[in-house]
Amino acid sequence: GIDISKLRDVSGAITVDPGYKNTGATKSAITFLDGEKGVLRYRGYPIEQLAEHSTFLEVAYLLIYGELPSSDTLLDFRKKISRHTLIHEDMKKFFDGFPSKSHPMGQLSCLVGALSAFYPESLNPNPSEEEENLTIIKLLAKMPTIVSWIYKKSLGHPVIYPRNELNYVHNFLNMTFGQITEDIVIDKSVVSAMHKLLILHADHEQNCSTSTVRIVGSSNANLYASISAGISALWGPLHGGANQAVIEMLENIKNDGGNSAKWLAKAKDKNDPFRLMGFGHRVYKNFDPRAKIIKKACDEVLDKLGINDPVLDIAKELEEAALKDQYFVDRKLYPNVDFYSGIIYRALGFPTDMFTVLFALGRLPGWIAQWKEMKANKEPIGRPRQIYTGSTIRDYVPLDQR
Ligand code: ACO
Repeated sequence: GIDISKLRDVSGAITVDPGYKNTGATKSAITFLDGEKGVLRYRGYPIEQLAEHSTFLEVAYLLIYGELPSSDTLLDFRKKISRHTLIHEDMKKFFDGFPSKSHPMGQLSCLVGALSAFYPESLNPNPSEEEENLTIIKLLAKMPTIVSWIYKKSLGHPVIYPRNELNYVHNFLNMTFGQITEDIVIDKSVVSAMHKLLILHADHEQNCSTSTVRIVGSSNANLYASISAGISALWGPLHGGANQAVIEMLENIKNDGGNSAKWLAKAKDKNDPFRLMGFGHRVYKNFDPRAKIIKKACDEVLDKLGINDPVLDIAKELEEAALKDQYFVDRKLYPNVDFYSGIIYRALGFPTDMFTVLFALGRLPGWIAQWKEMKANKEPIGRPRQIYTGSTIRDYVPLDQR
């Protein structure tokens, strides 16, 4: 019953909790997570049920607006989104300006931030509900176009324009893997795996990127700027960047003769900064429920596509060995969602440096929902305190006397 916006600071008393391991930053009604029991629910619905029965756009609606949509509402939501899938032709100049090998996450963060320049109405810190919704719809609609165009540009290929008769995920895959000269046939199992992956990434309460989105938004920065900051936070290998790091690690192990025992030992060596990428989680200490679902989807996709990849054999070997190893057991380190997601993305044909961008595409509805909730709660500007440990007062010494 406490109104957090009314809490006053207590001068002198400061809690220091590096990494916010035990500090709640907000109250939220979006995602429930029990790390001990491995439970994850969006708006009360278990992630397992949503991954099995729902679609990504339906889950996006659920996260952002709080309820599952009726079929009419969902149709309306889809229609509105399909009206905004194009991006301004001038945005193409940004794509052209990036070196072809620049990392897709840097481009994505920049391009999403740039949307604010094309839609200046988003700068209004007190929009009407209708205006706020339009900004949200535009971002949801344009993100797949931006992501697939980043990929096409990296290949030096012409971009594919959105096909609005296709559903959100199918349209994205078409823009990514389609050719200008021919219609693409995408296996149903691929579309279904992509829905699952995006749903499983759609929200995860107050993680690093989401907290970033909320804290940037709390200064009344616009939605595009807030999400752009979230994308940058997600980029790091300890967060979303781990899915790329997992495959790079597996490739390194393969190139090193496939000796996973040696690399497991490296991960346990406290004098070696190497960590087993895709293992461990700040909150899940028994298992990551998303990893369980993805592992199954991963097996299905690989089976369906008939993929035989030595890197995947190493992944299996490493997983089995780590799960039996006392070091990992004692520290409750289990495979997280990123351990398997990269394997599926690779099987679907995405290059490694696109993996984190796909995470961002999935996380977008969660970030939007959290930003919207922060605004609706009228939360005060985020401004952590500190304990100062620097020098005590001292006098300035002129340059020629130093
Ligand atoms: N490999 C080896 N040892 C590990 C690993 C790992 N992947 N993860 C944690 N440990 C060890 C630590 O060295 C530490 O050991 P100690 O107690 O002997 O000092 C202990 O386990 C606890 O680790 P912390 O770093 O304190 O755990 P924290 O909750 O801060 O970190 C994190 C969680 C960042 C996810 C960590 O497990 C990690 O670096 N994992 C690899 C990167 C990764 O997969 N990130 C993706 C996270 S999921 C996501 O963002 C969607």
